[in-house]
Amino acid sequence: MPESFDAHWLRLRADADAAARADGPYRALAAWAGDITPPLRCIDLGCGLGANAAWLAPRLPGPQHWRLVDHDPSLLAEAGRRSLADASGEPAATGTLRADLTDDLSSLTRGVELVTAAALLDLVAADWIDGLVTACRANGAAALFALTYDGHFASETPNDPDERRVRAAFNHDQRRDKGFGPALGPEATRYAARAFRAAGYRIHLGRSPWRLGPESADLQRALIDGKAEAARKTAPDDRTTIERWAHRRHQAIQDGTARLHVGHLDLFAKPPEPRR
Ligand SMILES: C[S@@+](CC[C@H](N)C(=O)[O-])C[C@H]1O[C@@H](n2cnc3c(N)ncnc32)[C@H](O)[C@@H]1O
Repeated sequence: MPESFDAHWLRLRADADAAARADGPYRALAAWAGDITPPLRCIDLGCGLGANAAWLAPRLPGPQHWRLVDHDPSLLAEAGRRSLADASGEPAATGTLRADLTDDLSSLTRGVELVTAAALLDLVAADWIDGLVTACRANGAAALFALTYDGHFASETPNDPDERRVRAAFNHDQRRDKGFGPALGPEATRYAARAFRAAGYRIHLGRSPWRLGPESADLQRALIDGKAEAARKTAPDDRTTIERWAHRRHQAIQDGTARLHVGHLDLFAKPPEPRR
């Protein structure tokens, strides 16, 4: 069963995502993109509201053509209303496509030079990444995967004694099938890095954690509820511990003392042959 994401959640996380992105992979991406004969043809897989393309387009040199892909028609409609602009402020050509990413990836990505996705890779299975690497390699396309959960989250203040159990249960849920087969969850970036490297790609990795403080109270609340719900599913015997943790976290948010660190990784995979 494919995972669904509501627009409210995607809006809530957009600022934290934008602030979190690592520098290194994007510098390498922009340098690679500068060698491509324009327009740079890009596809954003699992685009949601289009936040990834909107963040990337002004950081890439020269004219661009973007295709935004999602299976959710209401998210896609909102993504299609965004105007993307390149680094010189010129509008980037943008089209949307409703498609299921478990369908044929090689036809979806044919003719594309940059394949990108944000907050998607932890949902997919190893086979899906293998298929994507094959499709990218066949086109000589580069790949950029942003904001993939890496298995770490921690309340920084105050420290919580039950958190280790909640985290273990939540991370177990991350491996559930999200419509692509058994999800790689926190292992996804490492798996993708190995697969692209084996296909001759050069890998640029960077950490892109959310460091949330009192200014992100709504996002923290949504995260606590989401993590508690997922943890309860995989560890019903730990229900009391999970409830206690969630209650203390909500209390800390109300007191203005809650800080939450959520680990993510960004990966840029640069193709072996220079394209001109
Ligand atoms: C966590 S959201 C990330 C959205 C967006 N990339 C962002 O960074 O805000 C994952 C997105 O993947 C889409 N998605 C999940 N499974 C999919 C599938 N099988 N086919 C197409 N889209 C899918 C969801 O609809 C959702 O928009």
